[in-house]
Amino acid sequence: MSVQIDTNNSVIMPEAVFIIGTYDENGVPNAMNAAWGTQTDFNEIVISLSKHKTTDNLEKTGAFTVAFGTVDTVTICDYFGVESGNKVNKIEKAGCHVRKSELVNAPIIEEFPLTLECKVKSWKPEEGILVGEIVAEQADDSIMTADGHVDLDKMKPIIYDSAIHAYRSVGPVIATAFEEGFKIKKSVDKWDN
Ligand SMILES: Cc1cc2nc3c(=O)[nH]c(=O)nc-3n(C[C@H](O)[C@H](O)[C@H](O)COP(=O)(O)O)c2cc1C
Repeated sequence: MSVQIDTNNSVIMPEAVFIIGTYDENGVPNAMNAAWGTQTDFNEIVISLSKHKTTDNLEKTGAFTVAFGTVDTVTICDYFGVESGNKVNKIEKAGCHVRKSELVNAPIIEEFPLTLECKVKSWKPEEGILVGEIVAEQADDSIMTADGHVDLDKMKPIIYDSAIHAYRSVGPVIATAFEEGFKIKKSVDKWDN
């Protein structure tokens, strides 16, 4: 039996925990939490945003960073979503440390181990849709494998469960992508779809 869910409660889940970092016109860093976003091309991210200190900032600088929430940063992540940079320096209050990206005019928050550096490709305030060009990605070496990829077991990313307004950790690997389906497909040519 199918149950129809109230779309004001939950639509797509789980969601991301993106931490958007920006500078204001005086170089003061800020960060906000955003769940409504995703990758839309190899070097593109789209995020749905209301008007915030963050959007005022990125309108001026044309740049932002996106860090990924982790188990170790969950308190900071939620804080960045419940207070506005219009009222307080959230970076200082959270005890975070920032350095300026070498590639875009936006802060990298050092407490987060993985961060995208983005240029504003388009920002439509009336629609609330931010499109960013991902220029580079910075990873702390503590989350890297010996062969050079990000190890999510070390990073411990979190996801947002919008049904119950909670953060959840990401679980173990359960199958290999582009392999598992061949238990049903059983074709010798993997790419004949
Ligand atoms: C879990 C969570 C997810 C959020 N997702 C979004 C979002 O996708 N878009 C948005 O505009 N605001 C979102 N917010 C609200 C902003 O983070 C919040 O209004 C924040 O204070 C804005 O910060 P700023 O004024 O310093 O830019 C979210 C907040 C939380 C706690």
